[in-house]
Amino acid sequence: MASYLFLCLFLFFSHLYASFSSSGSHSCSSLIQFKDSFSITEDASLDCDDFAGLKSYPKTDSWKEGTDCCSWDGVTCDHLNAHVIALDLSCSWLYGNFPSNTTLFLLPHLQKLNLAYNHFNLSKIPSEFGRFTSLFYLNLSNTRSLGNLSQLSHLDFMQNQLSGQIPISLGNLLQVTHLDFSQNHLSGQISLSILNLTQLEYLRISEISLEGSIADEVTAFPNLIYLYLYDNLLSGTLPSWLYTAPSLKVIILSQNQFSGRIKEFQSNSLELIRLENNKLQGPLPSSISQLLNLTHLVLSSNNLSGVIEFRIFSNLPNLKYLDLSNNSLSFTSNTTSTVNLTRLILSSCNLIEFPQFLKGLKSLESLDLSCNKIEGKIPQWMQEVGNGSLTYLNVSHNSLTEVEHFPWKNIEFLDLSSNLIGGNLPIPASTIRVFLISNNSFNGEVSSLICNASYLQILDLSHNYFSGTIPKCFGNFSYRLQFLNLKKNKFYGTIPLTFAGGCRLSNLKLNGNLLEGHLTPSILNCNDLEVLDLGNNKINDTFPHWLGSLPQLQVLVLKSNHMHGSLCVNSSKSSPFFSKIQIFDLSSNYFSGPLPVRYINSFKAIINLEKIASTGSYMGVTDPRGSGFYTYSIGIVMKGQDRDLLKNFTMWMIIDLSNNQFEGGIPKVIGKLNLLKGLNLSHNNLNGDIPTSIGNLTILEWLDLSSNRLSGTIPNRLADLPFLSSFNVSENQLHGQIPQGKQFNTFGNDSYEGNKGLCGFPVSKGCNIIEPAPPNVLEKDGSKSNIAFGWKVVLIGYGCGVVFGMFVGYVVFQTGKPKWLVNLVENQHEKRRRRKSKKGNRSSRRRRI
Ligand SMILES: *[C@@H]1O[C@H](CO)[C@@H](O)[C@H](O)[C@H]1NC(C)=O
Ligand SMILES: *[C@@H]1O[C@H](CO)[C@@H](O)[C@H](O)[C@H]1NC(C)=O
Ligand SMILES: *[C@@H]1O[C@H](CO)[C@@H](O)[C@H](O)[C@H]1NC(C)=O
Ligand SMILES: *[C@@H]1O[C@H](CO)[C@@H](O)[C@H](O)[C@H]1NC(C)=O
Ligand SMILES: *[C@@H]1O[C@H](CO)[C@@H](O)[C@H](O)[C@H]1NC(C)=O
Ligand SMILES: *[C@@H]1O[C@H](CO)[C@@H](O)[C@H](O)[C@H]1NC(C)=O
Ligand SMILES: *[C@@H]1O[C@H](CO)[C@@H](O)[C@H](O)[C@H]1NC(C)=O
Ligand SMILES: *[C@@H]1O[C@H](CO)[C@@H](O)[C@H](O)[C@H]1NC(C)=O
Ligand SMILES: *[C@@H]1O[C@H](CO)[C@@H](O)[C@H](O)[C@H]1NC(C)=O
Ligand SMILES: *[C@@H]1O[C@H](CO)[C@@H](O)[C@H](O)[C@H]1NC(C)=O
Ligand SMILES: *[C@@H]1O[C@H](CO)[C@@H](O)[C@H](O)[C@H]1NC(C)=O
Ligand SMILES: *[C@@H]1O[C@H](CO)[C@@H](O)[C@H](O)[C@H]1NC(C)=O
Repeated sequence: MASYLFLCLFLFFSHLYASFSSSGSHSCSSLIQFKDSFSITEDASLDCDDFAGLKSYPKTDSWKEGTDCCSWDGVTCDHLNAHVIALDLSCSWLYGNFPSNTTLFLLPHLQKLNLAYNHFNLSKIPSEFGRFTSLFYLNLSNTRSLGNLSQLSHLDFMQNQLSGQIPISLGNLLQVTHLDFSQNHLSGQISLSILNLTQLEYLRISEISLEGSIADEVTAFPNLIYLYLYDNLLSGTLPSWLYTAPSLKVIILSQNQFSGRIKEFQSNSLELIRLENNKLQGPLPSSISQLLNLTHLVLSSNNLSGVIEFRIFSNLPNLKYLDLSNNSLSFTSNTTSTVNLTRLILSSCNLIEFPQFLKGLKSLESLDLSCNKIEGKIPQWMQEVGNGSLTYLNVSHNSLTEVEHFPWKNIEFLDLSSNLIGGNLPIPASTIRVFLISNNSFNGEVSSLICNASYLQILDLSHNYFSGTIPKCFGNFSYRLQFLNLKKNKFYGTIPLTFAGGCRLSNLKLNGNLLEGHLTPSILNCNDLEVLDLGNNKINDTFPHWLGSLPQLQVLVLKSNHMHGSLCVNSSKSSPFFSKIQIFDLSSNYFSGPLPVRYINSFKAIINLEKIASTGSYMGVTDPRGSGFYTYSIGIVMKGQDRDLLKNFTMWMIIDLSNNQFEGGIPKVIGKLNLLKGLNLSHNNLNGDIPTSIGNLTILEWLDLSSNRLSGTIPNRLADLPFLSSFNVSENQLHGQIPQGKQFNTFGNDSYEGNKGLCGFPVSKGCNIIEPAPPNVLEKDGSKSNIAFGWKVVLIGYGCGVVFGMFVGYVVFQTGKPKWLVNLVENQHEKRRRRKSKKGNRSSRRRRI
């Protein structure tokens, strides 16, 4: 029985020959000739009927010379120029040797070829398949006989949505030198048979769900040069051939579950070793110091231990990039070293001082000492480290108290955040692009000299003690500035900012200061503005309705100010209002009048009409380790609790109008906001019924309508909201039966307090006592409240309800990665390509192997 190996693949054979030209009738005669090279016999496709459950029949019977082949069974042409682009002869009774000079190769436009379930008499796969320069789909399922690929030297299936198991037959590819299965939907293990591939020079099986351990055989892969098995689920110890393969230059096994020790290397050919994000233990092998050609050594995020004598790297003249972060290592700090590194990452390395060996690093471009325990001030000699060449310095999350001056004259990225540094705002060299000093004790006024840093893209001064007024020049800072975060300081005075044309700000956060005055419409010059957070200030103004025309605005936080007046806008204006808004927080102000129906109607992102710009395009301001380096939070009240952290902000659609003086009814249109996750209208003067249309908000997680004057019943449809985990209607004038079942089994008494008329579980008042409710109220929402339904019956079901936990993460705002980071971020290219391919998945086909 032939095996069921599916071979439906995107083949790049080693040699892609020049293409032929062909058209119309020429193609037709080629097809006839192809057909004629086989005999037609039902037996050839028996497996099709018996095993695949498909109906086999001789498709080529309809192929008649002199007719247009585009109309033949199994043939697909493109409409424009009648090229044959797809041929499906699966289950077509073809029997015979596959001719190596087959006329099929005269169809250069062929993109899909399905020859599954025929019998090619154990013939070899002709190397001329490489002529199909356009072929992206080849299905040779259950023909496999064609699968004698022993002559094949180059097999590349990268990024093809192949799915299923890695073929066991790999061991037959005896001649293969280049094998690439990366970025597919394959899973399974690499069988022992891979050890047969003695000719392999390039092996890449990355970014799939490969599991198990790697076959171990000390003499394996005598010719291997490049090994890429990263981003899988591989476990076990590192295979012994890794240390002995005589030609091996590149090892990338990052992002797996490898454990055990790194043994001594016996081959000195290695140039690049990446083993980060595994579970490796034990000391660094001393043979590292013999790898004279080594340029990259990345061992971060393992559990390596022991003391590193930095001297062991001194012998390595080519070593440029060293990353030992996030292990259990310690360092002898007083040795100097002559290693000529350009990039050194020692984050989370238990350092208690700036290590002396840094002194020798004259060409250092990038230095990360974040997340250590370094105290005191940055020593004088640090000025010499990579002086002139240093562009990236990260000393965040330490206990530094003082920074005297910034001598690094070409610095572009400087992260001092989360230390104990006091004093005035330091002014870095004008080359600076990212300057992060949040969570320190800086104080005093902010000097307008900072505005000379005309390359600045990200400036974060948040969580310090800066005071005084915000310098006027911040309004026309730099046309490059995208993120300005002054949150939680003591800035006072009016918001003076007049934003110049060409403003590129996408995030402006002034939350938690003492600012008064109002925002000027000049902020409309900042066309890219996505986040505007003015919360927790003393702004005394009416609602700046003109913000509604900012085309990208996604987050507007004005909470806890002294803002007042009605939100009702002159409806003659037809400009779009807040069409991209996702978080709209006006809570704790003095707004009055009816709820803003006009805005609600135009929240197209929440109504799911406006394509959300950032969805899916999770772009990368990322650090060299690939995590978001610039993260920041939006403070919101979520399910009744203050939360400062949100993950992936595109997922959150929140409206908070609580704690104002809004009056009138809750408009029905609120039911249109079908992506809404949180709605808080509590502490207003709202009256009338709870609209049944709220039952349309199918992904709502929290709903707070407490402390209003709402009357009527709670619509039963709310019980159908599957994710509702926080519900509060306390302190209103509601009555009648509380909806029962599902999520409503999980809400406690306090959700209903202060409504004398409510009955049924969980309040103690049973509904057997007939309420003096006007019957028309009950009917209004279309639900029949079963008054005879006793709460005891419900109790039985209590406890079976699903309780949804809270989910809190980080908001990661990521915009275009500054070009200069490209040099720093070794693996970014990979990541981005992967991201792109993930996006591509949706539109492209799936293939199986
Ligand atoms: C199938 O292969 C055998 C042995 O190679 C050969 O004798 C036979 O002629 C082939 N049959 C056809 C139909 O090509
Ligand atoms: C293919 O080669 C065989 C002999 O090896 C020959 O008989 C046949 O005519 C050739 N077919 C084509 C289309 O060239
Ligand atoms: C595969 O090809 C090799 C080399 O041409 C040959 O020795 C071997 O017999 C073939 N195997 C099968 C199953 O046809
Ligand atoms: C390895 O190749 C030999 C032929 O050289 C073959 O007989 C054997 O089955 C292969 N092993 C595996 C595991 O595929
Ligand atoms: C190191 O690199 C040099 C230059 O590329 C090469 O000649 C030499 O063979 C390499 N050393 C080893 C041990 O592979
Ligand atoms: C790390 O290694 C030490 C031994 O060196 C071991 O005791 C510890 O459990 C390991 N930690 C993890 C998380 O594997
Ligand atoms: C480094 O410090 C250790 C003790 O901390 C000392 O034993 C050693 O001699 C010092 N080495 C140098 C080169 O100063
Ligand atoms: C150190 O590396 C830099 C940059 O890679 C290079 O320009 C310089 O010549 C090297 N210095 C030494 C002493 O090898
Ligand atoms: C806003 O300012 C006006 C006049 O300046 C003042 O009367 C009013 O009390 C202020 N409102 C708030 C809430 O501070
Ligand atoms: C962010 O949320 C969007 C929409 O739900 C989702 O498609 C995307 O994968 C999420 N990204 C991350 C990094 O979680
Ligand atoms: C709520 O959904 C129903 C259909 O499920 C629809 O008829 C009704 O118009 C919706 N209401 C609102 C306010 O969107
Ligand atoms: C290959 O072709 C067979 C027969 O048409 C079909 O059943 C199978 O699903 C195809 N495989 C893929 C992955 O398209």
